[in-house]
Amino acid sequence: MTAHVYTIASGKGGTGKTTTTLNLGTALAALGKKTVVLDADLGMANLGLLLGLEKSKITLHEVLGGSAKINEAIYDGPAGLKVIPSGLSLKGFQNCDPDRLREVMTSIVEGMDFVLIDAPAGISKDGVIPLAVADHVILVVNPELASMADALKTKALTEMLGRSVEGVILNRAELERTEINRNKVAELLGVKVLEMIPEDANVRRSAAFKVPVVIRIPNSPAAIAFRRLAALIAGEKFKESVSKENKESFVDRLARSVFGGK
Ligand SMILES: Nc1ncnc2c1ncn2[C@@H]1O[C@H](COP(=O)(O)OP(=O)(O)OP(=O)(O)O)[C@@H](O)[C@H]1O
Ligand SMILES: [Mg+2]
Repeated sequence: MTAHVYTIASGKGGTGKTTTTLNLGTALAALGKKTVVLDADLGMANLGLLLGLEKSKITLHEVLGGSAKINEAIYDGPAGLKVIPSGLSLKGFQNCDPDRLREVMTSIVEGMDFVLIDAPAGISKDGVIPLAVADHVILVVNPELASMADALKTKALTEMLGRSVEGVILNRAELERTEINRNKVAELLGVKVLEMIPEDANVRRSAAFKVPVVIRIPNSPAAIAFRRLAALIAGEKFKESVSKENKESFVDRLARSVFGGK
């Protein structure tokens, strides 16, 4: 058995790729799918930070630098998720050969259901390889023109590599009149919108606690959308309610007072 490899890309920075990779991956793992998330943003690694894995000695940097084996860089995340973080040091980044990812992928896919790759912004070499090794490319866009323009460029690049974009996630969607809506996004980019993730302060609040929002506040609007997306990708019926108690805890109230939000 080998996994379906999804690369989560955007073009523009800061659209929500890392947040999507982590929450979609965790939600797939919670559905019982063997899932691994991999931080291919070699220069600005964030995925490990969101899980408190920033002190990990062996990361994808060491693997792509040739000094470690891939199985040494796989860590346990929430709900059975496996995580391959990248390192934070500039030196580690400089020692990386992004091309090595192609061969490393063959061991990662073995025995897994899903591999999700968190791609860097932009179209430099370390951004191109994640697109080239993907079976499916998903673009994360925000409802604004710069994000659409950069996503179109990434779509064109994906097609030049002989791949196609499977769909778009419209993240940080708010129902304002000025916003580009779902149909407009599909029309502009020529691909279907798989899910709309609302702007939700719970995302940042959970990040501060280093726990994905789908675990920490599973019935929050963003978490529901991420879980629905996971069900779609896993080909399963979506069950909206989760057993976990969703009453706002003391810690959540405290976080809200510190970080703000509704
Ligand atoms: N739906 C959302 N609601 C509220 N905040 C969000 C949402 N999605 C992402 N964010 C916040 O937006 C910021 C950027 O998200 P993230 O790091 O996932 O983007 P990225 O595309 O990976 O960025 P980069 O291009 O720098 O790698 C983070 O602070 C994250 O918590
Ligand atoms: Mg990121």
